[in-house]
Amino acid sequence: MAYTTLISIILSHFLLLTTKTLAGKVPAIIVFGDSSVDSGNNNQISTVLKSNFEPYGRDFYDKKPTGRFCNGRIPPDFISEAFGLRPFVPAYLDPAFSISDFAEGVCFASAGTGYDNATSDVLEVIPLWKEVEYYKEYQKKLEAYAGKKKAKYIIKESLYLISIGTNDFLENYYSMQSQRSSQYTEDQFQDFLVQLAQNFVNQIYRMGARKISLTGVPPMGCLPLERATNYVGGNGDGCNEKYNNVAKHFNVMLSDLVERLNEELTGIRVVFADAYNLLLQMITKPSSYGFEVSSVACCGTGLFEMGFLCDKLSPLTCTDANKFVFWDAFHVTDKTNHIISDFLMEHVLDQFL
Ligand SMILES: *[C@@H]1O[C@H](CO)[C@@H](O)[C@H](O)[C@H]1NC(C)=O
Repeated sequence: MAYTTLISIILSHFLLLTTKTLAGKVPAIIVFGDSSVDSGNNNQISTVLKSNFEPYGRDFYDKKPTGRFCNGRIPPDFISEAFGLRPFVPAYLDPAFSISDFAEGVCFASAGTGYDNATSDVLEVIPLWKEVEYYKEYQKKLEAYAGKKKAKYIIKESLYLISIGTNDFLENYYSMQSQRSSQYTEDQFQDFLVQLAQNFVNQIYRMGARKISLTGVPPMGCLPLERATNYVGGNGDGCNEKYNNVAKHFNVMLSDLVERLNEELTGIRVVFADAYNLLLQMITKPSSYGFEVSSVACCGTGLFEMGFLCDKLSPLTCTDANKFVFWDAFHVTDKTNHIISDFLMEHVLDQFL
């Protein structure tokens, strides 16, 4: 990031703090999950699943491709800003940032990962258990940097954003090479994932986390890639209803889990951040939200390009991503992320303000 932007961000941040005094109810945003929230960790590992090149990031600060799978910002960035913190959450593995930055927000997420270890194996990305290992390491560094007492406070009072699950279905269970689909029925697989989600929340709870937002999965069957595949399969050009039903069912299970966690774990506050219906509305009625296109993505033909297939050589990439719900065949635009984040701040995360 260029100095000028960094300085202007720091300045506006000071102004925000001095004028609004949102004063530290949430001292930091701590992020776990997949590409929906990865701010650049995959840049530092050897996977093909990266996005640190143009046109990714063309509407980010300094038009910088950061490794976010978006033209601009992703939900943790908007949410961090809404809490009066920095307007972006840096990736833990990014060498341009250090513990003084991470004390106010840190992202452990990795594009392509899932609850299931077998999901992160598919594209050789960071498994969820490894994200937890990094979080452990972060706690040690935080203690050394801020002192034991302050570190404990940050760990306890921070807001934890967890957004993961889509790849367990689309990259793993429903992929042609999947072993899981021969081991588990669809229902058993969902039970398995919910168990893993429960284990994960228990784990970070034991490590000190108390304020947690667990994100549901989106209408997966309406991602442009799945729509295109559905079309090629000859089932019409609409969304893949089966995948949408799986997503809806899985969200109900996650929401039940959230209820149980709140009952079982003393002092925890878990909320279920469900944007399924909102995103489906944007897809079915794009004009109500100021969009023009929702069935295909901005990048390339909009049908299949993402990651290395969406680069500056991709022909046909749209000029104004604000007209599109989807940025690439798997991920939404900055504008969509902004609308979703505002909705979550207003209806779900407001209790942490
Ligand atoms: C996933 O892998 C880690 C590291 O090998 C292991 O500790 C964990 O038990 C595995 N999880 C499952 C559900 O197999």
